[in-house]
Amino acid sequence: MDGASELIETDRRFLVHPLHHPDDHRQPLVIVEGKGAMLYTADGRAFIDGLSGLWNVNVGHGREELADAAAAQMRRVAFASAYIGQTNEPAVRLAEKIVGHAYASSAAVYFTTAGAESNESAFKFARYYWKIKDKPNKTKIISRIHAYHGVTLAALSATGMAAYHRMFGPLVPGFVQVAAPYPFRWQGNQEPGIGAAEAVEKSILAEGADSVAAVIAEPVMGAGGVIVPPPSYFPALRQICDRHDVLLIADEVITGFGRTGRWFALGHWGVEPDLVSFAKGVTSGYLPLGGVIAAKNVHDAIESAPSDRRFMHAATYSGHPVCCAVGLRNVEIIEGEGLVERAALFGRRLLAGLEILRDLPAVGDVRGLGMMCGVELVADHGNKAPALGLGPRVAREALARELLVRIRPGGVDPAIGDTICLAPPLSTPAETIERLPEILRAAIIAASG
Ligand SMILES: Cc1ncc(COP(=O)(O)O)c(C=O)c1O
Repeated sequence: MDGASELIETDRRFLVHPLHHPDDHRQPLVIVEGKGAMLYTADGRAFIDGLSGLWNVNVGHGREELADAAAAQMRRVAFASAYIGQTNEPAVRLAEKIVGHAYASSAAVYFTTAGAESNESAFKFARYYWKIKDKPNKTKIISRIHAYHGVTLAALSATGMAAYHRMFGPLVPGFVQVAAPYPFRWQGNQEPGIGAAEAVEKSILAEGADSVAAVIAEPVMGAGGVIVPPPSYFPALRQICDRHDVLLIADEVITGFGRTGRWFALGHWGVEPDLVSFAKGVTSGYLPLGGVIAAKNVHDAIESAPSDRRFMHAATYSGHPVCCAVGLRNVEIIEGEGLVERAALFGRRLLAGLEILRDLPAVGDVRGLGMMCGVELVADHGNKAPALGLGPRVAREALARELLVRIRPGGVDPAIGDTICLAPPLSTPAETIERLPEILRAAIIAASG
């Protein structure tokens, strides 16, 4: 048995993977190296990383500076608690930098280690805020169908994809889901942005505004199939939240740190959230780190609390010095190489290249913002019926053409199509970006035949 076969065999025996099913791990790619937008496997193949890992490797693979930042901090002190009465410089400096790049109202950062934990924390920030304001019954969270907020129990309960719920119920009570602003599949009579915002308002009224703590929304839904809202949606949603005294949580786990061509994405529509969850791009995936950015109103509540109502939320690794040192260096790379502006420019080019795929019978919709794009597959151009099973075939054909993409599986209920998700590193060379639509065209044609 060669080294790679032995590794795969041992993998099968000992490792449970995320979203595990043994069928998916008969011939896994064994990734051994990464450089820029490329990944290399144990059997000598090279692939364009069309999803930046899992939407996270914003600065690209193989950055020596990030390895050096981690090593230097580990040599100095690898771990120091940020609990009562202690702090460390990387956490402080990174928090300051993040606030500087976030919204005008952003005030302070609490660090976590991942996206789901950031959302769990954001829900607790929201509940805490209302308890400080003497409205202790405002606890419910409203989210949207097709949303992905992570898979810990409360984050899972906000996630709007039934496949993630099926084997893990019951969900946490007090989570309510409403329609998403999904223009391609919108069925209401109103303009989808206004209609979907009003669906949130109806839900607040149905639940009782005095029971609702917050609405959580990804600025662009990522794992749900790169669903870009109409420009009317977030301004209307912000007004609805204000009207009913409900906080707005922006889940920017994917959209943060430049992905959409802005440091944080609600700026596209001139909207400021009360809380922001982030993860992924903060370290470009080099180490696990996430967090919550609290706007001034929420931060003031924490700062002004009496000792017996203190913010009793915590995690051993909140403000981890090594993760924060890597985060700081990563943000400096994004700044220094102008990767946010680059994402805006090359994202527009990528989307324009993908638009040309609309002539293919299997392409129903093409959408994107910055360096995150989606191509929704349908049975036929003329009808929007999902082409079930086509997505995985396209992914296999893309892989045969040295492109790794991720498919958001469609379904019959709700009837949406498989969606090819593309989100290459923000540093991907222009020539590589230009090749992506051609590769996808060939893959879709081969898979449809
Ligand atoms: C928008 C969004 N929120 C939350 C999460 C969960 O993050 P994690 O997997 O780090 O827990 C993800 C992961 O893809 C995500 O895309």
